[in-house]
Amino acid sequence: MLPKRTVNRKLHCRTPAKGHDSRINQELWTAVDSYLVQNLLPADPVLDTVLQTNAAAGLPAHDIAPNQGKLIYLLARMQRAKRILEIGTLGGYSTIWLARAIPADGLLVSLECEAKHAKVAATNIQRAGLSSLVDLRLGPALESLSQMIQQQEPPFDFIFIDADKQNNASYLALSLRLSRPGTVILSDNVVRDGAVVGAQNSDPRIQGVRRFFEMIASDRRLDATALQTVGSKGYDGFTLAIVNDSL
Ligand code: DHB
Ligand code: MG
Repeated sequence: MLPKRTVNRKLHCRTPAKGHDSRINQELWTAVDSYLVQNLLPADPVLDTVLQTNAAAGLPAHDIAPNQGKLIYLLARMQRAKRILEIGTLGGYSTIWLARAIPADGLLVSLECEAKHAKVAATNIQRAGLSSLVDLRLGPALESLSQMIQQQEPPFDFIFIDADKQNNASYLALSLRLSRPGTVILSDNVVRDGAVVGAQNSDPRIQGVRRFFEMIASDRRLDATALQTVGSKGYDGFTLAIVNDSL
């Protein structure tokens, strides 16, 4: 493993420009996302319907943004992934993006613990014509993952962790047991409006993300980075990791 880079602690703090409060920033981030989506993503009535369906069903508005969906789709294609594991299906929006990245003989296993979410997701995946590629498993992901390990499920090429954040470290540990050298592990919501830097934050989701980072930092099998993102879904970020070829 490479020695850790020293962090430049000389932060160049600027007072924010007048008027650039968080609401104005959010409006701007949303406008820029709309611009990017209009330019780079072809009209997609199926995915539009999925987002409408999820909102109408009262699911939490935690679907990834369209341009984020395209990003995970592109990452999975770059990886030439045939076997994808998704932890946290919700309404299946990201599931559909990922399933579109795999070939006809590929497989996407998606884990969801809420029956209502899984039901909505199954309908959406069917509407997208992807049911034959997606194995949607209902139940607590920790249990489904343990079962898959026990049953010696072949390794996945690409893993997307996007479920309850308090379990992120456990999801990572179990994901590693379903990985091979070269497996890509992507994780959503690792910045949370910047709350991730709050060591004393009492939110178990923040502590879950912090344990996840500690685990990555101390695990020589992983080579990783994380990026902060802004956009229509606010201020958050993701972690991208690859399982090393050798220890
Ligand atoms: C939450 C979860 C998500 O996966 C997300 O993208 C945004 C928010 C949450 O649990 O608050
Ligand atoms: Mg998420």
